[in-house]
Amino acid sequence: MKRNTIWSLILTTALSLTANAQTRELTVEAGKPGAPIQPTMYGIFFEDINFGADGGLYAEMVQNRSFEFPQHLMGWNTFGKVAVNDYEPAFKRNPHYVTITPSGHREKQSGLENRGFFGMGFKKGMKYDFTVYARLNNLQGKQAKLRAELVDDNDVPMDKQTLTVADNKWHKYTATLTARQTLQKGLMRIFLEGGEPVDLDFVSLFPEDNWHGLRADLVKDLEDLHPGIFRFPGGCIVEGTDLATRYEWKNSVGCPEDRPLNENRWNYTFAHRLFPNYYQSYGLGFYEYFLLSEKIGAEPLPVLSVGLACQYQNDDNDINAHVAVKDLQPYIDDALDLIEFANGSVNTKWGKLRADMGHPKPFNLKQIGIGNEQWGPLYPERLAEFIKQIRAKYPDIKICGSAGPLAEGDNFDYGWKEMRRLNVDLVDEHYYKSPEWFLKNAGRYDNYSRKGPKVFAGEYAAHVNKRGDQPTTAMNDFEAALAEACFMTGLERNADVVYQATYAPLFAHVEGWQWRPDLIWFDNLRSVRTPNWYVQMLYGTNKGTNMLKLTENGTPVEGKNGLYASAVLDKIKRQYIVKVGNSLDRQQTVSIQLKGLKKLTAARQTLLTAKLTDNNSLDHPDNVKPVTQDITANGNSLSVTLPAKSFSVFIVE
Ligand code: AHR
Repeated sequence: MKRNTIWSLILTTALSLTANAQTRELTVEAGKPGAPIQPTMYGIFFEDINFGADGGLYAEMVQNRSFEFPQHLMGWNTFGKVAVNDYEPAFKRNPHYVTITPSGHREKQSGLENRGFFGMGFKKGMKYDFTVYARLNNLQGKQAKLRAELVDDNDVPMDKQTLTVADNKWHKYTATLTARQTLQKGLMRIFLEGGEPVDLDFVSLFPEDNWHGLRADLVKDLEDLHPGIFRFPGGCIVEGTDLATRYEWKNSVGCPEDRPLNENRWNYTFAHRLFPNYYQSYGLGFYEYFLLSEKIGAEPLPVLSVGLACQYQNDDNDINAHVAVKDLQPYIDDALDLIEFANGSVNTKWGKLRADMGHPKPFNLKQIGIGNEQWGPLYPERLAEFIKQIRAKYPDIKICGSAGPLAEGDNFDYGWKEMRRLNVDLVDEHYYKSPEWFLKNAGRYDNYSRKGPKVFAGEYAAHVNKRGDQPTTAMNDFEAALAEACFMTGLERNADVVYQATYAPLFAHVEGWQWRPDLIWFDNLRSVRTPNWYVQMLYGTNKGTNMLKLTENGTPVEGKNGLYASAVLDKIKRQYIVKVGNSLDRQQTVSIQLKGLKKLTAARQTLLTAKLTDNNSLDHPDNVKPVTQDITANGNSLSVTLPAKSFSVFIVE
């Protein structure tokens, strides 16, 4: 034998011995299905932050369509003679409108234009539905002609339609306009072409491909996550900066034209990302949230104010920032009426409204959240009153309480103690932490008490450091996504106590963000699925029906030497699913034995891996994406190599 060949043999043998020595043996008790996994296990949390609703998921393209922003013409440019009025309005709860008067000279124009939210995004060939409520301003007036135009980013009209107003009573007028080009920052213009002064209100423009008023592409981004639970409408906006601006669901239902405007608590929160034009039109309201839940197959989880204005923004000693317990009844009625709106028969007051809005069938609401992330004694004192009345009238509805804004500490411990005392069904925990924290805390729920309330991880996300000056989507890099994926093996391993979990926040407009990272970024035409989105999707589509015990040398796999793993059975699809994260910067070899099974017939691996700093952007949406390949099984085992910094989902049948 030649010297070279001998050396190469020795080397190969040594390498293979080293590799074998490092092969880690994971055992899955595949023959012993454990506790059921809740269908609600992985889901989404929606809040109107980062222009997530108006300017985002809600497809309305006109900003301040009802002229109700405190500066009534905010969002509008006017030319010629345009005035704001409120005499005999079209809609009682949105009483302002504009009157356009002829300029008095045939060469001069009167009218107004709107640039939407960071410009209007138009798609070539797409039709846009234009709506306006109008009447002649003058009782003796005969007619007025209005011209509505879609205008491109060079100020050139792309399409126009003329409407004739010939009545001094309010009527709805519609027209369809077609975009001739695709562009991000177009606008819409309205001229008074001729005739008498005219009053206009609720000036609206929707792309024709909207789904019940929502942006079709963003709805698809949600649907593809296969979420089990849908928490809405927030977050801090539930509480409001003050009680008057809390989210009142009753204002968000009924005809959209008459849903009163509310300010958005996020318009002035971050001075460096100030959006004084951020309001809630409630066009995306509770009816739409319920419809959307149904569409994406998720159980609805509405959250209501407990009578405390945002505790971050107020002093607990300020009596104006919370409702006295004796005065809570209207707030409790809101909760009881909401359950009736969602589930009540069409003969009830609120069930009838649901039916009138187009959904006679109940929405099958099963749980309700009371309070967002509240802390201290003010909270349980008030929550107790809600619980008493909700339990008495709707004993089957589950109640979700809060453990406050932090993952640990005195407020957190106090919150949990009180939630146990009050016997809520679920406790909402929030944690925005570093990737290191997520990796260290994969065992967080291993020792949680199995008695009493279950866990709802209602807001969480790994926040990477030092990305301040980088592009908007950079905070959603693979480092954060991998840490979340590894941590989530711990949610899955504890699915007998963790009943649901939702990443936060969900959406951000690339020009309108205030908070990051976020699960889905978008501009006026496109959206991008972040690496974190792919992690959520992999869990959501592979959640299984029953827990399976997975161990290495008899102990859970929760970070030792960079390995994280959990396993589930999907009884319906007849699949065994193993999720494994490798946080080391070297590959690891793993043997996964599915004890109790004889032979695996088919196996595949879906792999998500990238450089830690990699992310997806609107221009490069596919940088980080999972890939799936078939793999071969050896009897009831899989022998696999996990690349450095990777997350894999193994599905065997
Ligand atoms: O998700 C953003 C905010 O974070 C939520 O509104 C609030 O609940 C939390 O503090």
